[in-house]
Amino acid sequence: MGGSVKIFLDTADVEAIRARIDSGVVDGVTTNPSIIMKSGKPFEPVAREILELVPGDVSIEAMSTTCDEMVAESRQLANWGKNAVIKLPMTRDGIKALSILSQENIRINLTMVASLNQALLACKAGAHYVSIIVGRIDATGADGMEVVRDTRTMMREYGFDAQIIIGSVRTPHHVMMSIRAGAQVLTLGTAVFDQLYDHPLTEAGLEQFAKDWQAVENR
Ligand code: E4P
Repeated sequence: MGGSVKIFLDTADVEAIRARIDSGVVDGVTTNPSIIMKSGKPFEPVAREILELVPGDVSIEAMSTTCDEMVAESRQLANWGKNAVIKLPMTRDGIKALSILSQENIRINLTMVASLNQALLACKAGAHYVSIIVGRIDATGADGMEVVRDTRTMMREYGFDAQIIIGSVRTPHHVMMSIRAGAQVLTLGTAVFDQLYDHPLTEAGLEQFAKDWQAVENR
């Protein structure tokens, strides 16, 4: 797929994924407990269905809270598919579990990152993806994109090879700002994903072309 920026869908709605996967611009899927809840299905069958359907990376979240349990659960979840990426939370136990699992080549998406300092810990511990929750940060009155820009700079300066996932994307404007900030992955709800196609100038221009073409055909 073109370029090094990836677009993931932030949903566990299998039909919604199926309807968009053929676009050729969807590289993967991310889920979380709330997203799984909204799917109305139990975790394992829906996660396995998405892992089958989507050729790219699919993030599924380990819900244990202690390091030992997170390690055991992540090892199990990682067996569900070659494309499974395990989400662990930004907690002390989450970072400890990440340090262990990254040594085993289990790819971890460290999630709920809201500050540069948290991103530093995630990168140090060997995260494959670092999910920065820009919309939730913005909602507190802080600047989510500032965390993204600072994390990107840190990664370049120190040679961390983790990739930033922009999460909690609320608007198409978040998408534009993420691209300007050099984010490597955007995970989008279907509403924001669909909005990327649209622009009133495009619609008006194409409508005019269609009308004019009708006139040509009627000659
Ligand atoms: C990412 O890691 C998050 O799970 C997700 O993008 C959060 O999105 P929300 O703020 O819309 O719940």
